[in-house]
Amino acid sequence: MKNIAVIGLGYVGLPLAVAFGEKRPVVGFDINAKRIAELKQGEDFTREVSAEELAAASQLSFTDSLDDIADCTVFIVTVPTPIDDFKTPDLTPLVKASESVGKVLKSGDIVIYESTVYPSATEEVCVPVLERVSGLKFNEDFYAGYSPERINPGDKEHRVTTIMKVTSGSTPAIAEEVDALYADIITAGTHKASSIKVAEAAKVIENTQRDLNIALMNELAMIFARLGIDTHEVIAAAGTKWNFLPFKPGLVGGHCIGVDPYYLTHKAQAIGYHPEIILAGRRTNDGMGPYVAAELVKAMIKAGHTIANARVLVMGFTFKENCPDLRNTRVIDVVKELQDFGCQVDVTDCWADSAEAEHEYGISLTDKPEQGNYSGVIVAVPHKEYAAMSAGDLRGYLKADGVLFDLKGVLPLGEADLRL
Ligand SMILES: NC(=O)c1ccc[n+]([C@@H]2O[C@H](COP(=O)([O-])OP(=O)(O)OC[C@H]3O[C@@H](n4cnc5c(N)ncnc54)[C@H](O)[C@@H]3O)[C@@H](O)[C@H]2O)c1
Repeated sequence: MKNIAVIGLGYVGLPLAVAFGEKRPVVGFDINAKRIAELKQGEDFTREVSAEELAAASQLSFTDSLDDIADCTVFIVTVPTPIDDFKTPDLTPLVKASESVGKVLKSGDIVIYESTVYPSATEEVCVPVLERVSGLKFNEDFYAGYSPERINPGDKEHRVTTIMKVTSGSTPAIAEEVDALYADIITAGTHKASSIKVAEAAKVIENTQRDLNIALMNELAMIFARLGIDTHEVIAAAGTKWNFLPFKPGLVGGHCIGVDPYYLTHKAQAIGYHPEIILAGRRTNDGMGPYVAAELVKAMIKAGHTIANARVLVMGFTFKENCPDLRNTRVIDVVKELQDFGCQVDVTDCWADSAEAEHEYGISLTDKPEQGNYSGVIVAVPHKEYAAMSAGDLRGYLKADGVLFDLKGVLPLGEADLRL
């Protein structure tokens, strides 16, 4: 049986390494020594894998040393693929991980990429790095595969093994081998794509489609707010038609939906096509933070509050509910805009790490928000702890005539003063 190395043990890599590690020898490799030390102690700060699940993966070991993966014959790369400040793909982690694998690559090995990329990145960017560093020839000495990840952090129902997985390989025989490898652990089944490019494109359009659908709902929410109609009621009514897609308005953050479309548009522009629709969706979604802040401020003014130095509580700072991930959270846009209006903003989040919030955004999280002291409260991220609170509980934080903004529409209709 081939030994597997998983390169990059984050939200994607760790659950995958654990799933394989229940069945076969796996070495999990990461350049972050602190992460490796924590995992060796049985701790996963992402909260994707429990201590019991880690212990059950009896054939999984962790390392930050390349020597320990030198015997492996299948390398699965799950490193980040972010965008830079100019919203263009930053392939540095992918290139660096490919250099590491190149150093230990042997004849007959397979390198499978799972990181989200634009179509052609595996063969045009990663494979040349593997060839350069290893001195081996692609599709003669070593092979490649691409199998995008579809996990949804914080979602305990859709786990790596219960989501159908798209697979692909650089030759028909390797595609079969890659597919069989995943079929061994994925109970939901696999879909063998006809090429690596098809598999790459499939992943990036899944998230682009979601981004655009949410952008449409956000645009509708802004129209309906002007018309005095509740968007969630409209969606509930329209959703009674069999083919209406019930997307909801909201902030679009994180490192998938708000990022992946830029990978696709970058590649499109590189080949001379200037995307209109995809970027229009991005513009709408990126503008939602300031819109949310302005709506709250208007409602606070109408309720008789003075905006300068008004105290506002933002509940939830992570990019999504029930997940500690702060990367690319768009709640920061709401906070910054409110601060620009002159408000004093407290941010609380029972899932986020305060040191990370301080380091990444200069926001020190409030542990225990004060009762009866805020002119506005926004439930920005409905972690289960916040979703369990009643409107009365939430209003407990407000002064008299304070404004409650239920951004994601978790409270029953009419119980909050505002929702998107
Ligand atoms: N998190 C998600 O919801 C999700 C879902 C589907 C796909 N993806 C994609 O999967 C990929 C990984 O995402 P993630 O959320 O797991 O990222 P992450 O940041 O949680 O984890 C990445 C890990 O890779 C490590 N790493 C970085 N450079 C490395 C290198 N050169 N060698 C070895 N390790 C290295 C980091 O230390 C980190 O532990 C990205 O392309 C992402 O777009 C993510």
